Amino acid sequence: MPARFRAHAVSQYTTTTANLTARIALHGYGTNPQDWFSWLAGRLPAAGHVLEAGAGTGVLWTHVDHAGLDLTLTDFSPAMCAQLRTVPGARVVRCDATALPFPDATFDTVIANHMLYHLDDPSAALREFARVLRRGGRLAVATNGTDHLRELGTIGPAIGRPGLTFGATNNDFTAETGPAYVARCFSGVTVERYPCDLDVPAAEPIVAYVDSMADEPLTPQQRAAARTLIQSRIDAAGSYHIRKHSVLITATR
Ligand SMILES: C[S@@+](CC[C@H](N)C(=O)[O-])C[C@H]1O[C@@H](n2cnc3c(N)ncnc32)[C@H](O)[C@@H]1O
Repeated sequence: MPARFRAHAVSQYTTTTANLTARIALHGYGTNPQDWFSWLAGRLPAAGHVLEAGAGTGVLWTHVDHAGLDLTLTDFSPAMCAQLRTVPGARVVRCDATALPFPDATFDTVIANHMLYHLDDPSAALREFARVLRRGGRLAVATNGTDHLRELGTIGPAIGRPGLTFGATNNDFTAETGPAYVARCFSGVTVERYPCDLDVPAAEPIVAYVDSMADEPLTPQQRAAARTLIQSRIDAAGSYHIRKHSVLITATR
């Protein structure tokens, strides 16, 4: 697998939380009244010593009552770690998910929410998760299907930015392949799909999402072309419908 996925993640996340924040904002237009983080929070096997790898801006922990947990949040991005330090009661450690600075069998639960597809070698991180989990400890991993947000992937090529597709920037750790990846290090693998699509009534949040995917920002002309394309579909259909395909994979060490 070419070593390009990590490079993209570095350019996306190292110095800013804005790209992730723009993407999370689009999911506010979900057709499921229960948002992703609430849905996930209700299913997390979180107990005792909990590690979240690639924790981003820490939004999950605004949906989980973590007062009784011993919570460690990690991310390789200095910008994300600065934000994570605002999560009450959490220990924050900046590190790569493939080289965790924790002894064997430290944690009861490890969570990796929408981050394994950014790695050049997702198996290396899964081996680390298995190492730092105690025997019987629980893993919770979220990822997306290959058809996730497919409608967004057509916008980049249509405005002269063919590289703006998920296939170009993410590895093959998907809803389809993820369970087999996890089963190499864990037992009792389960998969549950989050039932939700997006119905977006305005162009701007979609333009911001597409812009957030780019290592080089859209030009004003490309942004205007995207806005026109998206608005024409909203004018015809009342909203821009985008299919989602996110799953939670759980397993036992
Ligand atoms: C799509 S965001 C998800 C963030 C958070 N889990 C959420 O769901 O809101 C991916 C996160 O993984 C982090 N990340 C990417 N590659 C990483 C790596 N190799 N080690 C640690 N963190 C990484 C990024 O900095 C980013 O915060």
